[in-house]
Amino acid sequence: MTVKLGIIGAGRIGRLHANTLTTRVTGAELVAVADIFEEAAKAAAEDYRIPDFTADPSEVIQSGDIDAVVICSSTDTHCRFIIEAARAGKQIFCEKPIAFDLAEIDEALAAVDAAGVQLQIGFNRRFDANHARLKRAIESAEIGEPHTLTIISRDPSPPPIDYIKVSGGLMMDMMIHDFDMARFLLGEVEEIYALGDVKIDPAIGEAGDIDTAKVMLRFENGAFGSIENSRQAVYGYDQRVEVFGSKGAATTGNWHSNAVTISDAASVRRDLPLHFFVERYFESYVTEMIAFVDAISEGKPVPVVGNDGRVPVLMAMAGMRSMTENRPVRLDEIEG
Ligand SMILES: NC(=O)c1ccc[n+]([C@@H]2O[C@H](COP(=O)([O-])OP(=O)(O)OC[C@H]3O[C@@H](n4cnc5c(N)ncnc54)[C@H](O)[C@@H]3O)[C@@H](O)[C@H]2O)c1
Repeated sequence: MTVKLGIIGAGRIGRLHANTLTTRVTGAELVAVADIFEEAAKAAAEDYRIPDFTADPSEVIQSGDIDAVVICSSTDTHCRFIIEAARAGKQIFCEKPIAFDLAEIDEALAAVDAAGVQLQIGFNRRFDANHARLKRAIESAEIGEPHTLTIISRDPSPPPIDYIKVSGGLMMDMMIHDFDMARFLLGEVEEIYALGDVKIDPAIGEAGDIDTAKVMLRFENGAFGSIENSRQAVYGYDQRVEVFGSKGAATTGNWHSNAVTISDAASVRRDLPLHFFVERYFESYVTEMIAFVDAISEGKPVPVVGNDGRVPVLMAMAGMRSMTENRPVRLDEIEG
């Protein structure tokens, strides 16, 4: 069965999904795109040959011609569109994070349950070949019992200050992917201790955010983890993960545009890593969308469900409280 989809939000990530859905996902037909900034919807429709565009998301959500809605608008709009789409009986893909507030998330997840539709959250890094292989190494006990997890995740440059102001902060916007990765690899976390500061741009501090953070995790299974984030690594997008266990370690490095090393009398060197998430994770965005469309067309459960979107928000809240109060914070403190 062909799954007919509509996208809401034609910004950075909406355009990326429009690209993958129209070029790489068999069984998907992208029929409409909505953006309150009509020019953005129009441009996406032209660029990706999407038949309809509109400035009104409800037109897409309520359309009888659409099976599934892909929500790519700014985070503060996600829950309202999830609820409207669920009530209209549509299948839903929603970008991360679902929202910044647990009560709002719970209302949206309840609407999804009540409607009996499916909701997949956009944690694309789970679909990256490196991360999938790490997961297999852990699950098949290739590295024995996992003892520690180390995630290094650094952006090449900070986003614009206007984006920072509505992003929910580094832990909600950026580290949320790493919180998800930690859960994906080693299961639930019970306690978090976070340090964070402004080391790159004072304007980020003036906007009420941090640009550098180091976070310790205590997992329910007894393992320890750490996540390091920076908004600016001068050598490019730095994405590394290591799981160390009783029988060995599984480690992933950065991806490069080529595998050449240049050796001379002064040094042995290579070109910089792929620049940013669009380049580094492109294939994972393709794979997550294939997984969504396959699940919908075959009536199987989607691979990243609503609770997978909720828990990293809880973790980000615990991290922010830990940083503010300078102490380890248990997740059940936040849950109340
Ligand atoms: N999974 C990932 O790797 C990833 C990467 C980037 C962004 N994101 C997430 O995707 C979302 C969008 O981020 P972005 O970087 O594409 O932002 P963006 O600002 O580039 O695009 C957002 C678009 O949504 C539109 N919009 C805002 N309110 C709307 C509304 N009420 N109705 C319809 N359209 C509306 C805006 O006009 C804009 O075109 C955020 O939640 C962000 O966290 C996820």
